[in-house]
Amino acid sequence: MPVYGGDEVGELAESLEAMRVRLKDSLEYIGLHTVELEDTVKERTSELREQKKQLSLLLDEGIRAQEDERKRIARELHDETSQTLAALGMSLELSSEALRSGVLTPDMILELRKKVSILMDGINRLIHDLRPPVLDDLGLESAIRWLLQRHLGQKGVTYDLRSSGMEEIEMDGKVELSFFRIIQEAVINIDKHSKARNVMMELSVSGGLVNLDITDDGVGFNLDEVMKAREKGAELGFGLMGIKERVSNLGGEAHIFTEPDKGTKIKISIPAYGGP
Ligand SMILES: Nc1ncnc2c1ncn2[C@@H]1O[C@H](COP(=O)(O)OP(=O)(O)OP(=O)(O)O)[C@@H](O)[C@H]1O
Ligand SMILES: [Mg+2]
Repeated sequence: MPVYGGDEVGELAESLEAMRVRLKDSLEYIGLHTVELEDTVKERTSELREQKKQLSLLLDEGIRAQEDERKRIARELHDETSQTLAALGMSLELSSEALRSGVLTPDMILELRKKVSILMDGINRLIHDLRPPVLDDLGLESAIRWLLQRHLGQKGVTYDLRSSGMEEIEMDGKVELSFFRIIQEAVINIDKHSKARNVMMELSVSGGLVNLDITDDGVGFNLDEVMKAREKGAELGFGLMGIKERVSNLGGEAHIFTEPDKGTKIKISIPAYGGP
């Protein structure tokens, strides 16, 4: 450090030197923090980019799930409603011919009436499936009982629903509806594919998670084969994929245990208060 005299010029030079040192320190400090700031901005930008990617993935999944649901409804309309309508059309034609030739019997009219009833039942079922009123009116547990009775009990399958701790939690409406859809698909699968005689459903709450086990003693299946067929673009098999997607959107986990002739068990757990 230079040595100045005790005169005014010396004092001035000393304070200028002090200012220079302070300025240098400040510049170094600013430089250091600019680098830190740049790093933070970079970090935040990449976080935002990642979040955007996740969001668009979720959006894609949502759209796909919606499309799958539409396909399912279209198939149900095709398989049940339009086939019954076609049969009704034919019966009407036959009846009008019978009327013209004077051989129309009350039984033929009764037959028409029966077909209309079947049609109405089918349409009502579809409406209930689209938005099960029981879920709004009676809550999740009763809605599940309704589902079990409608798809299994009415067809002679024995079922048991055990539930514990559900009264301790209050699920968000959207989470509850999605959870109900998951259970609906699993129950419809048991109805459609399993040939089960007994079904056990257990609902429990532990550590902020809602756990669901659905076990059937039916024919089981080869999970790898089903998944591979689906990946190869098979038209069938949206249900299990839909279950997995919904569960992952809810921040939960789903596991399927099954083997041919060994029945099927689906184990699901989701956070009680919504996704991640
Ligand atoms: N509980 C079960 N018991 C026996 N087989 C089952 C069971 N659940 C699913 N499967 C088998 O897994 C396949 C895939 O089921 P998934 O629900 O994905 O499709 P799907 O029921 O055939 O059609 P979708 O659900 O799209 O109407 C079924 O076709 C069936 O062979
Ligand atoms: Mg299915």
